[in-house]
Amino acid sequence: MNHYLSINDLDNLQNTVQEAIELKKQPLKFESLGKDKTICLLFFNNSLRTRLSTQKAAQNLGMNPIVMNFGAEGWQLEYEDGVIMNENKSEHVKEAAEVIAQYCDIVAIRAFASLTDKEKDLAEVVLNNFEKYAGIPVVNMESAVGHPLQALADAITLEENKVNHKPKVVLSWAPHPKALPHAVANSFVEMMQLQDADFVITHPEGYELDPEITKDSTIEYDQKKAFENADFVYVKNWSSFKEYGKVVNTDSNWMITGDKMRATNNGKFMHCLPVRRNVVVADEVIDSENSIVIEQANNRTYSAQIVLKKILENM
Ligand code: CP
Repeated sequence: MNHYLSINDLDNLQNTVQEAIELKKQPLKFESLGKDKTICLLFFNNSLRTRLSTQKAAQNLGMNPIVMNFGAEGWQLEYEDGVIMNENKSEHVKEAAEVIAQYCDIVAIRAFASLTDKEKDLAEVVLNNFEKYAGIPVVNMESAVGHPLQALADAITLEENKVNHKPKVVLSWAPHPKALPHAVANSFVEMMQLQDADFVITHPEGYELDPEITKDSTIEYDQKKAFENADFVYVKNWSSFKEYGKVVNTDSNWMITGDKMRATNNGKFMHCLPVRRNVVVADEVIDSENSIVIEQANNRTYSAQIVLKKILENM
């Protein structure tokens, strides 16, 4: 594998999940694979899990990670060609990407959606320009459109908690006071489309995700109905895609409560974190035995590690 920009960059999701589960048993087995190799982790946005787990994954493979809070400490980058740069952008991505590539062998980038310019967000301007100009492998640590390291960690977690029948997996929207990106939900949908599962997306009308991503996935507007017989309930807020970046519904009735979870098939509660308690999910759900959010967070290390291992093996 050269780049990891989307879950579809994996040759085979199921095999990768099994390889990650093996790696988790012996995380230091390949500690010399990344010897003398450096990874630059560039953060244009905040992070807890992605920052620490990707560093740990790189270190487990013997790599040297360099982390930069690009959004707060880097020069503001220009991405357009032919621009007269006489305003607030100090450096063009053409130089920045090529310079960064002098210092590392892999570059991993977190650059969220603006939620103000749909066209630019869908064009993945930051990620694609780094891929174009850096000339080294690029890893997506959450871009405008996707969060494939999270989706792979979620696939590992689903496998580790698998039931003895074809699972019913529900992706449920939940309320949130702020406008949030679509990336986690998008990548979860793409990952579920590669699984043998009964997959249902539930959200209020007006919160349809990009139809180019959901394709023919089942959408059920009645959350109660969607939760019936669910083995896994994956919860995430996202802003409207149609009324791009807008919060068009804050109905607290969509919060995940104990009553709703009791109506599932003893379903597991999943969330990528961070999560707002008693807004998105009630304490009794996230604190319950059926909450597997910490397992998901733990699996972020092995998701990143298997991806970096595949890239290193291809260098
Ligand atoms: N789930 C996730 O990506 O967490 P962070 O935003 O804290 O990295």
